Amino acid sequence: MVVAIDGPAGVGKSTIAARTAQKMGFYYLNSGNFYRAVTKAVLEAHTDQAKKEDIIAVANECNFSIQDNCLYLNGKPVEKVIHTDLIDNRVSFFSTIPEVRDIVNRNLKRIARHRHVVVEGRDIGTVVFPDAEVKIFLDAHIEIRTQRRFEQGISSLSREKIKKTIRSRDHSDKNKPVGSLKKAVDAFYIDTSYLTIDQVCEKVLSEIRKKQK
Ligand code: DC
Repeated sequence: MVVAIDGPAGVGKSTIAARTAQKMGFYYLNSGNFYRAVTKAVLEAHTDQAKKEDIIAVANECNFSIQDNCLYLNGKPVEKVIHTDLIDNRVSFFSTIPEVRDIVNRNLKRIARHRHVVVEGRDIGTVVFPDAEVKIFLDAHIEIRTQRRFEQGISSLSREKIKKTIRSRDHSDKNKPVGSLKKAVDAFYIDTSYLTIDQVCEKVLSEIRKKQK
């Protein structure tokens, strides 16, 4: 079974998706981390970041694997080093490149094959797994998403700056030529603004159980 969870930045997708996967005993795939890992590789390659061909060439050399539910790039764990302000800043551009999206999507499908998975991102229910058995679209007001990011304490930015970044990421996520953020017509919509993580998880799990029957 594939459970696709989409939604904008700061909505709590990772927490909800990881918890759902753990409760169900499913594999967890965070597609944003794949784009972040490509971005890390490009930054380290000191390649011309304005040249799409150079970015695509680096992305093509990326070897992704999952070990203990964590993403590895070229044999090394990367999840702890891909949530920096610099990567946040560059990933929105790199993830607009259709060839980069193809590479990430191919890897997601390869890893998900023959497994029960929860996959989270922006275009999972619409583009990557349009036949997913369960599709969820998470949403929340921008003020609430800003507050959640701020409280995470990962970013060194002020609350106002975080809000500005989220707003600009929403804009680029929704206006990508390929793989833009949108709710699949058959996705179950959850406004998480005034719900606890447990309440959201319960709604997602209930959708999965319905489909399992
Ligand atoms: O979920 P996140 O914020 O870690 O995602 C990082 C970036 O990757 C963000 O700019 C949106 C982009 N992304 C995407 O374009 N498509 C996806 N399926 C997942 C993430």
